[in-house]
Parts: sequence; C-alpha cells; structure tokens
Amino acid sequence: MATSKELRIGLVGYGFMGRTHSNGYKRVNDFFPDLATRPVLKAVCGRSEDKAKAFAGQWQYESVETDWKALIARDDIDAIDICTPNDTHAPIAIAAAQAGKMVLCEKPIARDQAESVPMVDAIETAGVANTVWYNYRRAPAVTLAKKLIDEGRLGKIFHYRANFLQDWTISEDLPQGGAALWRLDAKAAGSGVTGDLLAHCIDTAMWLNGGIDEVSAMTETFIKERVHTATGEKQAVTIDDACLFHCRFGNGSLGLFESTRYARGHKALYTLEINGEKASIKWDLHDINRLQFFDHGDDSLIRGWHDIHVSDGDMPYLDKWWVPGLCLGYEHTFVHQVADFLAAVEAGGPCRPTFRDALETTKVCDAVLKSAAEKSWQTTGVDWQGS
Ligand SMILES: NC(=O)c1ccc[n+]([C@@H]2O[C@H](COP(=O)([O-])OP(=O)(O)OC[C@H]3O[C@@H](n4cnc5c(N)ncnc54)[C@H](O)[C@@H]3O)[C@@H](O)[C@H]2O)c1
Repeated sequence: MATSKELRIGLVGYGFMGRTHSNGYKRVNDFFPDLATRPVLKAVCGRSEDKAKAFAGQWQYESVETDWKALIARDDIDAIDICTPNDTHAPIAIAAAQAGKMVLCEKPIARDQAESVPMVDAIETAGVANTVWYNYRRAPAVTLAKKLIDEGRLGKIFHYRANFLQDWTISEDLPQGGAALWRLDAKAAGSGVTGDLLAHCIDTAMWLNGGIDEVSAMTETFIKERVHTATGEKQAVTIDDACLFHCRFGNGSLGLFESTRYARGHKALYTLEINGEKASIKWDLHDINRLQFFDHGDDSLIRGWHDIHVSDGDMPYLDKWWVPGLCLGYEHTFVHQVADFLAAVEAGGPCRPTFRDALETTKVCDAVLKSAAEKSWQTTGVDWQGS
C-alpha cells in the first residue's frame, strides 16, 4: 500500500532516546509497507539551538525549536514525542494533550503516581492517541513469550523472576545531576533503579502475567554523597542504587525482582524467567533474539530446554525483516513500536501500553519504594486491564 497520510512528529529531547525514536520513524515505512501513514520529522526541540540544529541536520528534521511550548503551539505538528528526563514529562504531556496533539512518552511516564494521574486525565479527556515506550514488549522473543503464555502453553503460572543489572555508578567520583547524570538526581529522575530499570521489568511482567497486587521491598544507596554538577558541592544521594522486591500477582503467582547499578560486569542484563505448571520460559536481553522454552509435555527422552532462535518469518514481526537465521537488535524494538502506533492510529484503537497502562506500573514502583522505606508489605492498588 502506498503511504497516503503524514504524521508530523515534534520530538522533544535529542539524547539517547531521541536517536532511537528518530531511527524508528525513519525506518518504519521501508519495512512495514502496509502502513498508510508516514511519519514526517517536522521539528526537534532542545534547549541548545546549536545542538538541536546539529541533531536536525544529522537526522533530517525540517526545523528546530528551543522551547517545547512553542513546539506544541505549532499547527504543523500532529504528535509530540517526549524523550526528556522524567521530571519534564508531565508538563509537556499535559500541554500537548490539551492542544489536541497525539502524545508518545518515554518511560516512566512521570516521577511518581501523583504526577502521573493528571497526565492520564489530560490524555483521556482530550481523547488523543498515545503510547509509552516500554519497548521491550516488542523484542520479538518477548512478544513470542506473550503468545505462548496466552495460548496456555505454560498452564498455571507459579513464578515470575526478573533482573535488570548494570555497573556504571560504582565509582564514588561520579557526580550527580546535570545533563548527563540526571538519573542520579532524584529531583529529575524521581527514583533510581526502581523507576529507571525495574519499571521496564514491571511493565513486561504485568503484560505477560497480569497485575501485581502486593510487594515487599528493600533498597540501598551505596554511595551516600556525590558532587552535584549544578553546585559543585557534595550533596546527599537520594536515589535507590539497588532495589530488590518480591511480590504476589493477582493470578496467585509469586514474583522476585532485582535491579542494581552495582553488579560489576553487567551492562544491561535484563533477564526474565517464568515457571508454569506445563512449561517454563527464559529470556535475556544480552541474547535478544533467543527464547528458552522448556516443555514438560515433550517426550521424556528428549525433554529439555529448547533454544529458540526467534528469526523465522512466522514469529512476531519477523516477516517484515530478513531471512530465517538473521538477527534483529535493540533498535528494532523502537521500529516495532512506531509501526504498532501508526497501525493503531489508522485503526482508531489504543497502542499498548497506553498512559493508563503505564500509570499502573508507576503504582507498583511507588509501592516498592514505600515498602522499602517503611519496611512493610504494601498493596499496589493496581487495576490491570489486560494487554
Ligand atoms: N525505553 C527505554 O529503553 C529507555 C532507555 C533510556 C531512557 N529512557 C527514558 O527516556 C527519557 C530520556 O532519557 P535519555 O536516556 O534519552 O536521556 P538523555 O539525557 O540522553 O537525553 C535527554 C534529552 O532531553 C533534553 N532536555 C532536557 N530537558 C529539556 C527541556 N526542558 N526541553 C527540551 N529538551 C530537554 C536534553 O538536552 C537531552 O537532549 C527518560 O525518561 C528515560 O527514562 C527510556
């Protein structure tokens, strides 16, 4: 199908995620030719005009803005894509929705639940198309895991286990705050590994296994003070450097989650394992194209873990890419999310996770942090509405 409609994108933030999203917009129609809509890179917004212009030149955006309010006020922009630090998401998303723009927002939608609720209200009152970039759902092996679970191949699920391990903050000389290290500053980030990394694990977990009802957590801040780049002075570190929690899902299964930035040797080790009555599943971001599957129904002489290379054309998203045996990478998860967003807009349906779905993840994050602070079990208040 020839593309007939334009979706004019206004991107806010030209950092790491600004690049992954821009790549998604540029690639999507080459590989998803059935889409009737073509993203147009209309404008990128950043506070530094020089850097925004350099980014626009590299990624072929038509124009730049230095104030996101001016971007939202433009009538030649259909969708605002928020790729800025977490403390900026709420004002941008609310203003964009009130202006009738579609809103795509990086995760976590905001620093906490209190900040997220008015965002969901604004989005739903305006009735604008929206999505939140919990992109790991769209790694084909993870999407395949969802299909296998939904087909009932695991049977009743007993256990869900996930880790997200990194090692980049071990040095006590690393400052906090500023453009590069906003993740270490709770004012900008909201929390540490809980909102940054466990939010991904929680979104995938609830997508695969349903809502999380109650949690018990512990957190640690290993380095108590760091120089703040804004002041040059040592200030207390108030993010969680590490977080462990266990939980109970609504379906009765038990969950165990761990995240840290102090696991020497691990860079982005997101792993998950699900144990069901009939079968188990394992996935590892460092081996993104493989899904491990153990089926107790196999003939006992050959029963064991299947090492599935998720590259055949009948597997999720794979008919759009190369030939069986060839690999996809991290960037494809974002291309897939753009494709699904455009398809949802064309069909007039939601692109999950929506802001409302992402609010549920934020509720779990808040309950985890409260549990750790109060050393007590917390109910999450999650109202999980399916996929
Ligand atoms: N989906 C994922 O896997 C994933 C991965 C990394 C980050 N993220 C999320 O994406 C968001 C951005 O993270 P990042 O790693 O790209 O950060 P980054 O630091 O690389 O980029 C942030 C960008 O925002 C810009 N910015 C900051 N304040 C601004 C403002 N007021 N107006 C305009 N631009 C502003 C900065 O100049 C920079 O260009 C965060 O919410 C983060 O949690 C998601």
